[in-house]
Amino acid sequence: MRIVVLGGTGQVGRKVVENLERRAQAVVVASRATGVDARTGRGLDAALELADAVIDVTNAPDLSSHAAREFFEDTTTRLLSAEEKAGVNHHVVLSIVGADHTGEEGYFAAKGIQERLVRSGSTPFSILRSTQFYDFARRIAEWNTTEDTVHLPAKPVQPVAASEVADKLVEVAMAAPLFGAVDMGGPEQMLLPEFVHRVLRADNDPRYVVADDEITPLGFNISSEMLLPHAPSVHALTTLDSWVREESRSKVSRGR
Ligand SMILES: NC(=O)c1ccc[n+]([C@@H]2O[C@H](COP(=O)([O-])OP(=O)(O)OC[C@H]3O[C@@H](n4cnc5c(N)ncnc54)[C@H](OP(=O)(O)O)[C@@H]3O)[C@@H](O)[C@H]2O)c1
Repeated sequence: MRIVVLGGTGQVGRKVVENLERRAQAVVVASRATGVDARTGRGLDAALELADAVIDVTNAPDLSSHAAREFFEDTTTRLLSAEEKAGVNHHVVLSIVGADHTGEEGYFAAKGIQERLVRSGSTPFSILRSTQFYDFARRIAEWNTTEDTVHLPAKPVQPVAASEVADKLVEVAMAAPLFGAVDMGGPEQMLLPEFVHRVLRADNDPRYVVADDEITPLGFNISSEMLLPHAPSVHALTTLDSWVREESRSKVSRGR
């Protein structure tokens, strides 16, 4: 089986590629860094030659509403048409929990559009929707810091280790297409300020984190259940504490 990982140089894409390499699976790493641009189509047909499945883990370089929407519309349309030409049997896309519950604006809505394009395409498909990766707490903190304080609404989240999402994507790609979506979250629910606080403490980051329900941390109002997985869903096993321990072990082994 030959699997193309589009976005295979990114945060979750690298972990997908590592998993496939461990299995000695034929894998093509595709991204602009390897000469494949899903927006312009450069290198796409060659990358998809003889491919059985594609795992799409690309992300927009600019996550703002309009830019993300254009990115996912352009890349998904081009990719699905190249897959049809190449006879690809399975399109697997990583989406985000809540993408089907938002309005017209924001990054989540752009992912909703990506999902709809995949559903209406002719390639058999599977959609895996994940909650926020543990590492993503750092980006959330970056976007919501005023002076030395991070302001976040007290909404429930169920973050997950990106490595387990990568493993699940491979498992899904190697099985029959779902023709539907599955949600995936971590083993614990917590409030968003607690999540970000725990990651910042583990990083020895001195910023305070305070609950502030007026804040729209991802660019839109989060309803109370929106960031939680809905059925059918998969529960990953790695807790935030064990992810933090693993992160510090790998920092030590990298000599930092
Ligand atoms: N972060 C989270 O918490 C989270 C949660 C749920 C779902 N997700 C989803 O996970 C996916 C991947 O996120 P990530 O954080 O791993 O992203 P990332 O680290 O930013 O990686 C993005 C990848 O896309 C590639 N890419 C960008 N533009 C491209 C283009 N025009 N053509 C081909 N490849 C292109 C990049 O490589 P080049 O720069 O070399 O092109 C890179 O390999 C996203 O779709 C996101 O919605 C993320």
